[in-house]
Amino acid sequence: MKHHAAIAAMLALATGLAAQTATERIAISVNAKKAGAAIQPTMYGIFFEDINYAADGGLYAELIKNRSFEFTPDHLMGWHAFGRVEVRADGPFERNPHYVRLASMGHNDLWTGLQNEGFFGIGLHKDADYRLSLYARLADGSREQMLRVQFVDQNTQAEHQEFAQADIKVTTAEWQRYEVTLKSPRTIEKAQLRIFLCEKNGRSGRGTVDVEHVSLFPTDTWQGHRNGMRRDVAQALHDLHPGVFRFPGGCIVEGTTLDLRYQWKNTVGPVENRPINKNRWENTFTYRYFPDYFQSYGLGFFEYFQLAEEIGAEPLPVLNVGMACQYQNDDQAHAPATEQGLRQFIDDCIDLIDFANGDPATNEWARLRADMGHPEPFGLKYLAIGNEQWEKPYFDRLAIIAPAVRRAHPEIKLIGTSGPNAEDDHFRNGWAAMRELKADLVDEHYYRDIDWFRHSMNRYDNYDRRGPKVFAGEWACHDRGKKWNHAGASIYEAAFMTNLERNADVVHMATYAPLFSHIDGWQWRPDLIWYDNLHTARTASYYVQQLYMQHRGTHVLPTTVCLPGGQPAANPVAEGDDGVFASAVTDKTTGQIIIKVINTTARHQDISISLTGLKAKAMPTQAEVITLDCSDYDAENLPSRPERVAPRTTHMPWTAATVEATIPAKTFALYILS
Ligand code: AHR
Repeated sequence: MKHHAAIAAMLALATGLAAQTATERIAISVNAKKAGAAIQPTMYGIFFEDINYAADGGLYAELIKNRSFEFTPDHLMGWHAFGRVEVRADGPFERNPHYVRLASMGHNDLWTGLQNEGFFGIGLHKDADYRLSLYARLADGSREQMLRVQFVDQNTQAEHQEFAQADIKVTTAEWQRYEVTLKSPRTIEKAQLRIFLCEKNGRSGRGTVDVEHVSLFPTDTWQGHRNGMRRDVAQALHDLHPGVFRFPGGCIVEGTTLDLRYQWKNTVGPVENRPINKNRWENTFTYRYFPDYFQSYGLGFFEYFQLAEEIGAEPLPVLNVGMACQYQNDDQAHAPATEQGLRQFIDDCIDLIDFANGDPATNEWARLRADMGHPEPFGLKYLAIGNEQWEKPYFDRLAIIAPAVRRAHPEIKLIGTSGPNAEDDHFRNGWAAMRELKADLVDEHYYRDIDWFRHSMNRYDNYDRRGPKVFAGEWACHDRGKKWNHAGASIYEAAFMTNLERNADVVHMATYAPLFSHIDGWQWRPDLIWYDNLHTARTASYYVQQLYMQHRGTHVLPTTVCLPGGQPAANPVAEGDDGVFASAVTDKTTGQIIIKVINTTARHQDISISLTGLKAKAMPTQAEVITLDCSDYDAENLPSRPERVAPRTTHMPWTAATVEATIPAKTFALYILS
């Protein structure tokens, strides 16, 4: 706290520092009259992939793992069965045919039932309501039976493990959906759901009951949707103000094999009949192996579009180009490569556009969207085809798919990829091919260390302004050997973003990645938002992104930065490769001028900020100053201690055309002038 007060004081003192002349300071000059390139509303966004338990066990609020008994090879993964439990495969849902048969043990004190472990436990909040639903039927000519459902704490030393309970009367031999609501009397991070087969009097069941699709949701989901998102996690997305939302991956779009690729058509329609898929992140790293990582697709393309709309972001789906992951399949000989062979992939693109935008009166995919509750179009404008693919196998397929999609939907902007690296031959060849294929944007990926970022602060200054625009679709900074969300890396992300911002004429989208991570289930770090079963943590990188997203502005203002002594430099190097980086924008809707200044050096830097080109009466009179102090290098926000690094706001008068300030070490300072 003391530290933050000191920072605020340094910034607030700014205008009073008369002792030093401007040339002893780093001089930032903003031409406030000459608004430059428009900043796209899509400029800063988010990239969602189901990695690190981002969907099931994360954003998707379902609390039951393997709810339809379809995990393989063990259909009871996530469940602990007791008594007589049999997995059967002729259930009511064609594409998820497995269910369990619970049969009597023939004894009052011998029990049959099931217990679900959730995703690293089931997180429950005190006094919150949870809706449990399941499909059931009486089997073997049984008469009415009960299913007693309980929240249990298996680790308690208390007399009772169960702390909430409800009974479901199973009354017919036909499959029927049953629903009960349980209130949790306590907050617990790792509860389990237990189900007993019972008689009416609570004794062990004497009949047989079939059970399918056991589902548990908090009633308080994001926007109250029944098949909803976890409120705190979705809220964190909403609070960012993202301009674009890329989904559903990533590598999972490609699949470890082509059969395992993400197929959006499997993710729409009633959730009970969405066929599950192995998650590619189950097997990608043997050193972080999660054999029970599957995709239920409960969070599917309808839900992605709906969420994009609710958080105010442009949806940007990525579809497969007819190839599995090139890293894992260097032989693409068996992948389709002709127009005929790629028909399904072409149709997937065209049908998706119809699903999102079509008229339900004339199009079956649009009708499905309407049936799912959204008759209005979602207003899809962008479609990416392929992720991290390279060279001829990719270019040839895209050369078949893209024109076919364009013929059907010329209004959609198509995005191609430049491969997994941001500077090698594949990358350069990728860009050349994308120019030739007239992609609207090219997706670049760079998960790189601090040194790479230090040397890439001018990356886009000399980009070719003709042809496709840049979509920095996956990027993040880590320190060498330190791949977690430490504040010391986030400051370089903030500095790098001045480079995106001043090149807004060529950079139209940028999305940090990955987005989410479950504290008990991660495969990849760093990540923007972390959670356990109860809490969410917004990382220092999150706050960097948020400050840019919330203060995006509408137009770039030309900004120069001069070293002490007056020597101009696009990005001054004050100490080693560190320095002070700045960019500025105006927001024509609010009239604000927003200046971002980032000091990546290990000591405070004296600066001056001059506004040129403004008449005296147009000069701002005050500044809101938001600072993000990243000087505690290893500081990390975690669900157990979420706000170690967080923005602080102060105010200061803006008294002249040139104002002096001091930016503390490793600090991002954002000035909003009005
Ligand atoms: O974000 C994690 C992975 O990184 C993505 O799936 C892939 O596109 C990239 O290699």
